[in-house]
Amino acid sequence: MAAALAAMLATPALAQDVGNPVIGKRIADSQCAECHASGLLPGRAPAFSAIARMPSTTATALTVYLRTSHPAMPNIILTPAEQDDVIAYILSLKE
Ligand code: HEC
Repeated sequence: MAAALAAMLATPALAQDVGNPVIGKRIADSQCAECHASGLLPGRAPAFSAIARMPSTTATALTVYLRTSHPAMPNIILTPAEQDDVIAYILSLKE
């Protein structure tokens, strides 16, 4: 019983280590949504929900992507904490 309770309590703690999805959504809305907002500009940038659904989308892949400049994306400078929050937000959209 105690072990089961400890396991239940440990899960949200682990999820929070990655970043805060609520703050991440705020950052994404202000800095990324002009290109990534779902359906606003079809064909320009994939919606974050679509990115989240791709099997290749993991915290590691997103971290690498956000630390590497991409020709299609302006160099958006996020602090490591902001990156973690945005990554937590994108992963929270995964079904
Ligand atoms: C000026 C437009 C623009 C802005 C602003 C922008 N992006 Fe992008 N992003 C793109 C485009 C276009 C692609 C598709 C690039 C490709 O696949 O060649 C992309 C791709 C991505 C991908 C990779 C998807 C994949 O195929 O793996 C991630 C992750 C991503 N963006 C995250 C972000 C985040 C987080 C922000 C905000 C901090 C952001 N982007 C802001 C245009 C933008």
